[in-house]
This record gives sequence, C-alpha cells and structure tokens, in this order.
Amino acid sequence: LLRATSAQNNFIECITSQFQASNSSQNVIYTPRNNAASYSSIYQSFLGNLRFLSTSPQRPLAIITPTNESEIQATIHCSRKHGTQIKVRSGGHDYEGLSYISQTPFAVVDMRNLRTISIDTRGNTAWIQTGATLGEVYYTIAETSRTLAFPAGVCPTVGVGGHFSGGGYGMISRKHGIAVDNIIDAIIINADGQISNRDSMGEDLFWAIRGGGGTSFGIVVAFKVNLVTIPETVIVFNVSRTLEQNATQIVHKWQYISDKIDENLLLRLFISSVRSPAASNGNRTIQASFTSLFLGRVEDLLPIMEQKFPELGLVEQDCIEMSWIESTLFFAGFPNGTSLNVLLNRTQQNSRTNSEHGLQGIWNYLNEEDENRAQLQFSPYGGALSTVSKSETPFPHRSGNIFMIHYGVTWTTDSPRHINWIRRLYSYMAPFVSKSPRAAYFNYRDLDIGRNNIEGNTSYRQASVWGFKYFETNFNRLVRVKTKVDPSNFFRNEQSVPPLSSN
Ligand code: FDA
Repeated sequence: LLRATSAQNNFIECITSQFQASNSSQNVIYTPRNNAASYSSIYQSFLGNLRFLSTSPQRPLAIITPTNESEIQATIHCSRKHGTQIKVRSGGHDYEGLSYISQTPFAVVDMRNLRTISIDTRGNTAWIQTGATLGEVYYTIAETSRTLAFPAGVCPTVGVGGHFSGGGYGMISRKHGIAVDNIIDAIIINADGQISNRDSMGEDLFWAIRGGGGTSFGIVVAFKVNLVTIPETVIVFNVSRTLEQNATQIVHKWQYISDKIDENLLLRLFISSVRSPAASNGNRTIQASFTSLFLGRVEDLLPIMEQKFPELGLVEQDCIEMSWIESTLFFAGFPNGTSLNVLLNRTQQNSRTNSEHGLQGIWNYLNEEDENRAQLQFSPYGGALSTVSKSETPFPHRSGNIFMIHYGVTWTTDSPRHINWIRRLYSYMAPFVSKSPRAAYFNYRDLDIGRNNIEGNTSYRQASVWGFKYFETNFNRLVRVKTKVDPSNFFRNEQSVPPLSSN
C-alpha cells in the first residue's frame, strides 16, 4: 500500500506540473482523491467485463483522458520517470480486461476524447482517431456516402484503438479483407514521446502495428484507412435451424463451403442451446443461426445458395434488402427501424464472459450450460482474406484457414463452473482444430494460452508459447521490431511482444 501511495503521489505530482507547464486542463486527470465520483464512473464506463471488478487487485492510480498529443507525451514522460505502467484504453472491449486492469501500479490513458473522424471523399480515405468506436466510424461514413463502407467488427461499441491494432474482422471481410488490410498510414507516440507517421516510423513498425496487437509498440493516436465501395443496398438474412430441422447436417456442410463460396457472401454461424417445444427431448435443443450478408441482389444470391448450400433452404422471403449502414444495426442485434443514432452510443452491455460426430459432442457441451448463455460463433475466412500472404501483416490466418471459432459464455452470478466449462470445451475441440500451433485470433484474447511475467522480464521463449498461436512465424518479426523501437519494454502487458534484450 505504501509503495502504491508514494508512486501515486509522485506520478500525480509529475502529471499535474507537466500539464500546468503546457497550459493543459487538469480536468482530464482523474484520481481517486481529487475527484472520486468522476474517477469511478469514468473507470467503469468502458468496463466490458464485470468479472474483473472483483478479481483485479489494483485500481489505476489515475485515469488520463487526453485531448491532444502533448498530454499523451506528458503522461508517458511521468510514467517512465516514476516506473508507473501505462494501460491504454480505447473502447475497453479487451476480453481479458488488459486495457484497464493490472497486477502492478498503473495509470490508464483513456482515448475517449480523441475520436475525430475526417473523411476525404475525393480519395475515399479517412483519418480516424483511435478513441472512436466502430459505431461512430460507420455512422460518420454513412453520413457522407451510401456507397462507402469500412470492413471492421460487428459490435458498434468496440474501440478503434484495440480493434484495428489486432486485426478487425467483420461482415464484409470476405470481400474487402479485415481492418488492417485497409490501413495506409498511422500516427504513433513511442516510449520517448516522439510522434511519427508512416514515413517517419518506417515500414517495419508500420507493419507491426497493423495486427501485431495494441500496447506493444506505442500509443496509436490515429489510423488512416482506405474506405471500400459497396452497393447502395445489400441483402441480409438470419436463418435458424434446430436439431429437429437437420442442424447437424447443415452445420457439417457449412464447414465445406463457407470459405469457398462467392466472396460477396459471408455466412456467419452462431450455435447455442435454446428452449423449444419441438425439441426431441421436449425441452432444449441446439439452434444454428446463419447470420449473413450478401453484397448484391437477391436474384444473384438465391442461385448461389441453391448451387452451393441447398441444405439451408434459403428462400426469397428470408432475405431483407437494406443499406450497408442499416445492416450494421441488423448484425448488432437492433430491431428493424432502430434509429442510426444508436451507433453513437459508446457504452457496451457488460457481462461476465469468458465431423458430425464431433458436432454431437459440442451439442452436449452447450446443453450443459444454462440456455442462451453459451454460444459458439463460427466466422468464415477465404475470399479477400486469402489473397493476402501470411506475412503481409502480422495477422497470419490467410489462405488455407477455413474459419475461426469464438467460444463464449456469460453469467450473472459468479461461479467457477462457467470458466471450467469453457476450458473443458476448449480441450474437447483440440482434435478438430488447427495444430502445432493451435492458432488463435489476437482480438479474441485469451490469457489461458500463455502470458508474460508480471514484472515485464519475459523471455522470447516464454512469449513464443502464446505469440506463435496468434502470429505464427510473424511473431519473430514482431520481436525484432519491438527490440528496435522499445528495447526497455516500457509498453507492456500480459501479452505484449517482448524485446530480445529481456532474455
Ligand atoms: P481496449 O480499449 O480494451 O483495448 C484492447 C487492447 O488494445 C489493450 O491491450 C489496449 O491497451 C490496446 N489499445 C487500445 N487502444 C490503443 C491505442 N490507441 N494504442 C495502442 N494500444 C491500444 N473483434 C473482431 O475482430 N470482430 C468483431 O466483430 C468483434 N466483436 C466484438 C464484440 C464484443 C462485445 C467484444 C467484447 C469484442 C469484440 N471483438 C471483435 C474483439 C475486439 O476487436 C477486441 O477486443 C479489441 O481489442 C477491442 O478494442 P477496444 O479498443 O474496444 O479495446
């Protein structure tokens, strides 16, 4: 406690005097002492996973919500001087809470005030500050044009900072790739407080920050992206089939076609256990929902489905025509007719999460959990994702990968049984998924696959355990970049890329 108190005092004094010297407002510094109520509410406002409220041993010494780059530089300066770890938070959706919890004294740089989005319709590009949410990005693009879009994630409250840093997969990714495939410039502040863009940071660092994960290399203030062209209207559908409606055979077939089908079509699959009067056991059944987007017209979609995936039995009545921006609401689960303004709401719903024969085993697992609490999301690869080589960006899941699976369970009353359940399911899946290494998507962060030492002196060998799962051999290049740009490992967390010098 004593250590934390003196660290807090020194750090806060340093920040305060730095801000005074540069005429910055003290109002963007929140501490438990100077403004306890605002500190708490700002801390909790982007707290995606309530599990960490009870399990996190430390609260941040301060939360700084910078309004310009010099306030970030001042924070970095004081953190280095007083050995305070920095956690950067954009949308706060990190699955392991790494943007707002820590085992050691730390401060949060919360990017919420840096969220300007400037669109250039002549070049079809946009500069997006990392404190923006995906909803704000989509809303702003749609205000400007009906035929421009950006390929990134489905949940509107996800932050640009973490999401773009780790990949960024969404409903038009089979046609236009993931977010990082469309980034063309960035502004980053390094551990020495230097600000650089693509030209001045060099191609190695620019490569690393497009998928190599947030935190490791510096604080990204903004990304410049190419916007993509889409039709004025798109088709969406959400067709569900239960076991009694042949779900097992349909899901089985989906695995063979979802990454090869027309790249304008993305068939995302959600599987959960639901209550149904028609269930063969009279109570619960498994439901497979095919939540899909087609960049084209119904007359083009139906023949594709009839030829490649007739088992689903898609008919015209299932298909809904809408604009791309309306489709972002559809996939985020908002009812038809919801105002686009909900995309500007930055607060996420928080919760506590973490061969046909093989499918039968998954069904059994899903039936063990409470109804509608556990869900598997299957997101197909292929299309544009496969046209980029594995080493083009740190995100390596390119040609040859069929789909990724997101395992999720939510609960309201704490009990170890849910985490045990998801760990058992994860082990059960081992024979059916990629091996050596068993791959993982960085944005679906999972500390179970390996973590760094709390003190920050993690060896290359130790970090390789999780690093190769996320990045395959790209991990080696990430380590080389880290060694060059941040040899003292100032920017670090439980799964940041270590420099070689820390061996
Ligand atoms: P957060 O602020 O927690 O940051 C995540 C990580 O990035 C932390 O380590 C943080 O320190 C670092 N970071 C943040 N801002 C930074 C900056 N400016 N500079 C440097 N480092 C920074 N993924 C996907 O691909 N497609 C999807 O559809 C979804 N959907 C989805 C829904 C929901 C409800 C959740 C909780 C998550 C997803 N995700 C997802 C995963 C999501 O992409 C991932 O959690 C991102 O890291 C979240 O970014 P945030 O900025 O919100 O998180």
